[in-house]
Order: sequence, then structure tokens, then C-alpha cells
Amino acid sequence: MCGIVGYVGNKDALPILLESLKKLEYRGYDSSGVGFLDHDSHLIVRKSKGKIRNLEEMIQGEHLPFAHAGISHTRWATHGFPSDCNAHPHTDSKHHIAIVHNGIIENYQELKNALKKKGCKFISETDSEVIPNLIASFYKGDLLLAVRQTIAKLKGTFALGIISREHPDMLIAARVGSPLVVGIGEAENFIASDVPAILDRTRRVIYLKDGQIAVLTKTQVELFTFGGKKVTPKIDTVSFNVVAARKEGYPYFMLKEIHEQPDVLAQMLSLRLKNKRLALEGLGLPDKVLKQVRKVMVVACGTAYHAGLVGKYAIENLSRLPVEVTTSSEFRYCNPIVDKHTLVLAVSQSGETADTLAAAREARAKGSRVIAICNVVGSSLAREADGILYTYAGQEIGVASTKAYTAQLMMFYLVALKLAQVRRSLAPRESKDLISQLLRIPSLCREILKNMHHIQKIADANSHFGCFLFLGRHVNFPSAMEGALKLKEISYIPAEGYAAGEMKHGPIALIDEYRAVVCINPQSHVYEKMSSNMQEIRARRGNVIAIATRGDRKIGPNADFLIEVPRTHELLSPLLVALPLQMLAYFIAVKRGCDVDQPRNLAKSVTVE
Ligand code: AGP
Repeated sequence: MCGIVGYVGNKDALPILLESLKKLEYRGYDSSGVGFLDHDSHLIVRKSKGKIRNLEEMIQGEHLPFAHAGISHTRWATHGFPSDCNAHPHTDSKHHIAIVHNGIIENYQELKNALKKKGCKFISETDSEVIPNLIASFYKGDLLLAVRQTIAKLKGTFALGIISREHPDMLIAARVGSPLVVGIGEAENFIASDVPAILDRTRRVIYLKDGQIAVLTKTQVELFTFGGKKVTPKIDTVSFNVVAARKEGYPYFMLKEIHEQPDVLAQMLSLRLKNKRLALEGLGLPDKVLKQVRKVMVVACGTAYHAGLVGKYAIENLSRLPVEVTTSSEFRYCNPIVDKHTLVLAVSQSGETADTLAAAREARAKGSRVIAICNVVGSSLAREADGILYTYAGQEIGVASTKAYTAQLMMFYLVALKLAQVRRSLAPRESKDLISQLLRIPSLCREILKNMHHIQKIADANSHFGCFLFLGRHVNFPSAMEGALKLKEISYIPAEGYAAGEMKHGPIALIDEYRAVVCINPQSHVYEKMSSNMQEIRARRGNVIAIATRGDRKIGPNADFLIEVPRTHELLSPLLVALPLQMLAYFIAVKRGCDVDQPRNLAKSVTVE
């Protein structure tokens, strides 16, 4: 996610803008920039691809003037690859107004076309660049009015910082869908994407709400609605430290990241499904090449591997292409059978996992095209692949992968739809139904998260068990494996994910009253079979925790504990069952006093073999 800082006050803005921006680096970014107004109201902008130190080196030699107001930004690319030109701040074509933006302007193309007709010149590939040009087109002396008129034209999400040559002692901020906080200082005021950036300068903050605009000078902060109505600001005093601030009130980053999933998935869908049409920017392979694909090979590790297993069901069901899924550590040593007609999908949150990097290199050496599905922009895997599909889930700090996993799942469904479109393997009506059900997933996830305390009670009631089995069938067999991994890696409880149909071939010998068995059984064509497995477990006094579709009246007698998820297309159910599985693991680990964010022996990215 992008990071925003703004300053207006008696001190020199530039060092404050850079120092505060560095405190947002943990959010992950690929470029940075700063814009400010000097004494003569000249608008000065400097920006650079890469780390903030690149920006500092760029301006080190210059004797930049003292400035009272400015904005700075770390960019997490969504439209347009990482580059100096695409970095923020962006200005209007006459260089009077500069903005920094976090979010996605969904209707930027039509706005850009209209502005071009008025003679605006654009230099970047970003959606954000339309904003300063729109403000300039409305500006007739009242900056706040021009900003309000601009906002009225924007569709999508944004947190904005705005400065103007005509108003050298003013800073304007606005938000909808992306966080922004105002800091109240002594003869200075600030804006920031979140509190850690300004906590060393002030503890008095206003958490901007969606639909609010803040107008800051060094001595005053005024709040307005987008409609122009004045709002009395509520000033909070921050009592926690910086690390706690980054958790935004959650006890662990993992819980924060679990709760970020609806927004992450909504952002992915608004970026990749524009007006319900697929937009896999970065795929890098034209349709005619995709048409020649005869097999898909997925290489990944851990949670990413489980996402690949779900992806197999999605791609095979929708595109009828055969899919093989292999752990990277096995793929690289098995003399794999891949060639130029094999599409290799290398999946890695970090993009730095040694085994997956090596597997991707092995596949390319054998003539296959490699598409990376990554979360960290500019990572090694992203740079080496033939195409890159970023999940843009924002930096994932908890070692146990949560939002990156569901974002990987979402990406697999989109890739499956793309392959189905190219191969015409799916009836238009089916494709339309799947897309409309995909678009509902973020709100269904929000409903599940509301059920958190019920899941916590179930976790507490089962946290004493010394061994867990996770069972699922078909597309939720991988969900069972992912649920087991989540639990074992943060609670250290032995846990195994199994295909439920395999129970009678051995694992059922494990079942007794000392075992907890999580049975994943949402409505599906294998529901009855899975219900029989649940009965077999209860007949042997196993403790069953069921995850089932809300309103299922038959499941009750087969379970000791029930967690309900909303109904969706059965192929999409892993997106929903992932959340209770993550929360079960989280609450059991917390109950056991484990270090949820940094479990023993584990690293966030395994960059060695
Ligand atoms: C998942 O919770 C674990 N942290 C681990 O299995 C992880 O998924 C695996 O190491 C792969 O990491 P990557 O996605 O960064 O390649």
C-alpha cells in the first residue's frame, strides 16, 4: 500500500517529509517522491524509483530552498510499473498543483481522455495523474472548491495530499476507502497514511473519516464534508508506541492482516475486473500464446503451494487445461517434464523464496514461460519472470500468511477465467455468474469476520487438544492442508490436512476422544460424502468442528461445534473457509501464549534452501 506524509508549519518541510516517510517503509513500496513550495511559491518535485535513499541521494547535492509546506509519498504500484515518472507526487501539466494519492481511481481513463481533449498533457501511466489536472481545470481561486469539484468526479478509493503554488501555506487532505490521519502540532500540522509516521512529532491526531476533507495551515485545521459542510473535528491523543501504532489497535499483525482481507480482495477485483471485464495487467503473454498452452504447472512452497492446489481445481474446471502442482523444492530436482507449451505459474508472497526462484529458473531453462504471482513488488521472482501478476495485498508482516493467501486464491480464479475465455471453454452465462459471485466475496468475508467472537469461543474450547486433523474434499482438500499449516506453524500443535476420502485408508485409526477434527463441508457436490466422513468420526468419539454453509440444517447432528460461512459458488468456497481456519489457528495460538507474529524457527521469507 502507498504511504502519504504532508507538512505545513514553521520548520523546513523537506527533512520532516523524508524522515516521516521512512517510518512508512514497512508498508512496502517501489518508489518515492517529495513535493514542496519554496518562499517564492515555486513548486519543487523530486521523485525516484527504488528506496527512499535513492531519493535522498538524488537531492543531496542540490541546495533546495526552505519550504513551509509539502507532501511526500511511497508508491506501491498499481497502474504503471515502478519508475521515476510514475512515482508521486504528480502535478498538473502547468505545474501549479501537486498531489500524492493512495488508492485506485477506477474511472481514470475516461477522465484522462476528457482532460486530454482540453489540452492536458500527461507524462505518466498512472491513474493518479488525472487528479491534479482535474483540480487545475476547476481552479478559479478557491482551492477547496476545486478539490471538492474534482472529488465529485472520482470513482474508486483515495487518500489525497494536495498543495498548490497559489496557496503556499496550505495543505489539503481527503479520503475515501484509504486511511489518512491529521496530526496537530505547535505552529505546524501534518497528514499521514497512519500514525507511526508522525508519532515522534505529535500525539494529537484526527482520524479522517470517509467523505471528509481537511484544510490545514500551520495554525489551523478545518474539516469539511465532500459536500462542503463544516465538521467539528474529534481530536484523539495517541497513547501507544510506534510498533503498536502499526498494528492499528490489533494485538498482533496477523489479526490485523486477517481483517484486511475484504479490502485487499475488493481492491484486487476493482483493479482486475473493470466493469466485469478481466484486466490482468502484467500477464505479459498475448492470447495467441495462451491458446498454445497445453499444460499448466504450478510451483510454490507452503501456503502458496496450497493456493496452487486450489488453483488446480479452478483452472481445470473452467479452462479444461490439465494442471500439475508441485512444491518448488521437489520440482527443481525431479528433471521436470515441461516445455514451451507448458505455462508455469510460480507463486510466492515474498518473491524471494529460494526454492521457488530456482524452480522458476529451471522451468525457463527448459523453454517454459513463467508467470509470477507475487505480493512484493520488484522482488527477485517478479523481475525474472516473463510476466508478473501482483496481488497488491500490502506488506504482510505476520509470518503466517493470511491476506496474501486469499489474494493468491483470487488471482488463480482470475487466471482460470482468463484461460477459459481464451479457450472458449466456459459458457458466457457461467462466466458471468462466476464473476458476479466473485464480486460478492469481499462483502461475504466481512460477514464472516463479524462472527469472530463465536470462532474464538470454539478455539478456546478446543485449544487443549494435542493433535488436530483437518479434512476436506475436492476444492477444499487444499483448504484442509492450509488450515493444518496455519495451526501448526503458530501454535506448534501437530496438525495434518487430509483428503477426507482417504480417512478409511489409515488416518481413521487416529480418531478417538482425544482428537479434534476440523471438517470443511460447505454446500457442494461432495457434501453428502463429507457428511458420511463426519459421521464416521463421531462414531469413534472424535471431536468435530464443522465449517458449513449458513442455514445448513442437516449438519448439526454431525458436529460438536459449527462455524457457518455464507453461501457462494462451490468452486469459490476456499476464499471463505480460509477465514475461520485462520481465526481458529490464531485464537488457539493466543490461548496457548504463542508468539503469533514471529513463531519459533520460522522466517517470513525462506531465502535459503
Ligand atoms: C505460510 O503461512 C508460511 N509462512 C510459509 O509456508 C510460506 O507460505 C512459504 O514459506 C512460502 O513463502 P512465499 O510465498 O514468500 O514464497
